[in-house]
Formats: sequence, structure tokens, C-alpha cells
Amino acid sequence: MNTEITNSIRYIGVDDLDIDLFESQYVVPEGMSYNSYLILDEKIAVMDTADRRKAAEWHKNLLAALDGRKPDYLVVHHMEPDHAAMVAQLTEEFPQLTVVLSAAALKMLGQFFEHTDFTGRTLTVKEGDTLSLGSHQLSFIAAPMVHWPEVLMSYESQEKVLFSADAFGKFGALVNETDDWACEARRYYFNICGKYGTQVQNVLRKAAALDIRTICPLHGPVLSGDLTPYLNLYNTWSLYEPETEGVFVAYASIHGGTAAAAQRLAEMLRQAGAQKVAISDLTRDDMAEAIEDAFRYPRMIVCASSYDAGVFPVMHDFLFHLQIKNYQKRRVGILENGSWAPSAGKVMRTMLEGMKEIDIAEPVVTIRSRMKETDLPALQALAEAMAK
Ligand code: FEO
Repeated sequence: MNTEITNSIRYIGVDDLDIDLFESQYVVPEGMSYNSYLILDEKIAVMDTADRRKAAEWHKNLLAALDGRKPDYLVVHHMEPDHAAMVAQLTEEFPQLTVVLSAAALKMLGQFFEHTDFTGRTLTVKEGDTLSLGSHQLSFIAAPMVHWPEVLMSYESQEKVLFSADAFGKFGALVNETDDWACEARRYYFNICGKYGTQVQNVLRKAAALDIRTICPLHGPVLSGDLTPYLNLYNTWSLYEPETEGVFVAYASIHGGTAAAAQRLAEMLRQAGAQKVAISDLTRDDMAEAIEDAFRYPRMIVCASSYDAGVFPVMHDFLFHLQIKNYQKRRVGILENGSWAPSAGKVMRTMLEGMKEIDIAEPVVTIRSRMKETDLPALQALAEAMAK
């Protein structure tokens, strides 16, 4: 790939194609990138490091871009180990290097690197502070909870580049990048930043006051050209507004009875005029993708078997994920299955009612063991209530 973002700003990040689970929880079939940048001026700034998994490759990229020069600053926008794993190593290698970071990040530095003495090696910055590298000037922007409390972004005013930390990042290695940025950016956003819509809105307001030509995130491609589509999607997502008209059907089925009812419901939704119907088998499909789809569409139907006087655990896990990601402002339909004492509906309703502005559609449908002819009118009524 081209490592020159501009004449003075170089990409020194790395792709990770052999990671099994990002953050030990997300499948990343297209890999992951840990982005890191170098600004070459009278002073040289390294912008974040990378994940320890790719330490050697990152270090090689750094030395190649330095071409014999020595860095003056390491700007740490985010302390999470997928970006800050080599902070101690770098300060040991370059004794003149100053680590630039927020006060909250400084507290974490000793937690992650208890064997390194950073005394006299750090420069704490806050919102509005600037750092001159020569002709390049960095201004710092506080971005707490996007995605940790210590996060900073920085704006380089000469080349109009925003270093956006995790924001505008995505799953996928750069070598596998396609034109469809939104697909894996959306899955990344809702699963990683989803809880923090308000904080993302705060940062978007600050970004709106800047003239940004290029966004350099910590994951995924560098964004340039017309940035409006990316900014608009981030605005929609962080306001918890649906992005695509349609209905999402999520089901958790033990022996196939609930699955058959969910599939029939999906068919009825299409016949009733739903613009799009997405369906997910929560027991087998990627949970992170199901969460993404729950946020993507304005309406969702959850279908689950009863289990141990509650709900089949995978549905509980799904709804728990939605709860902690701040799922809100949606219309939701419920279908439960139970062979002797149906209990799934009550648990799902209680969990959903604990979320903000959730409108539960009527009727809540109960089937017993298998969907029968006599169940179809209730399914049809639910489909009609949810199709549009
Ligand atoms: Fe990519 Fe929050 O770390």
C-alpha cells in the first residue's frame, strides 16, 4: 500500500490477518488493521503504536519511515493495548522521546507498564492545547468515551488532518479493503462505541467546526475526498436513528419450532409490504452482526424458546448486549415458544421495557412446541403491525 498520506505524514500501521477474535470477542474474517502514523517535520511525532501481536512489523515500518532520524514525540490518543502496546518499548529505544497524552491516559500508563519509569518523559495535554512540530501544528480534542475515558483526537492544521482515534474505524485489514466501508464500520461502531452516542455527538460537534480534509483513524482506511457520507452515518448512528427502512427478525430456537415460526413471520412481513426483512439465527450467526442489524432497522421481532422458566440463553445474551449498547427508539415485536409453561415472552418483554423508548407491538404471539394453522392469524396480525 501507499504509505504516504501526504508528503510529511506517513502510514506506519500494520495488518493482522491471523487474529482469531478481535478484543477476544469479535470475529474478523477480513482481519484487522492497527493504524499508526508518523509526522515528519523539524520535530517528529509518532501517532500511536500498535497491538503487541504485530510489534516487529510495526517497528520495521517505523524505522523505515524514520530513515535514520529519531522521533521527538509519541502522541498516545488511546491507551487500549491494540494501539498503545509499544509505548514503553519506544521510550526505552529513544531516550529523548516525550510521550504526549491526556491526564487520564497518564494514570493508565503505570497500570499497563509498571516496570517503566516515565518520570520526566511525559507531556500532559488537554482540549485546546497545541503542539508545534515546525510547520505542522497539532491541536488536541478531548473525546472521552470514544471509546475509553482518556481518549484524545488531534487535528493537524497545515494539512487539515484529523487523527480520530477509534472513531471512523472499522473491522478488516487494509489489504482486504473494499468500496463498502459502511458494512464493517457499522458492525464495529455499534459493538464498540454503540453505548456512547452522546459522547460521539459531542465530538461530531467539535469536528464540524474544523476544516477536515483527511481522517486518520486507528483502524481501517484513511478517509479522504468527500467526507460527508462518513460524517452523516456517524451522525445517524450516534443519534440512535435507524439507517435503513425494514424489519429485523432475530430468533433463538432449540429444536427448529421457533425457527420455522420466525421464517414464516419473515415471509408474512415481506407479503405485508416490508421494504426489507433481515433475519438472524442467534444460535449460529455472528452476534455482533445481529446487534448491528438491530440498530440498523427501525423495527425488530424477537422470537425465542422458553428455557428453565426463562428465555433460551442466547436470546438473553442478545438482549443483554442491546441493553448495554443503549438500544433505544425502536418498535419491537415478540414471539415466544413453550411446550408446557411459556416463559420467554415475559423475560423478553421485561428486558425490552428496561430500555429507552421501546414500543412493544401487539399481539405478543405464543406458540406451543410447533407453529400450527391455528397460530397463523396471530402471526399475521404481528406481521401486519410490524411491516411498515
Ligand atoms: Fe481500537 Fe478502543 O481500541
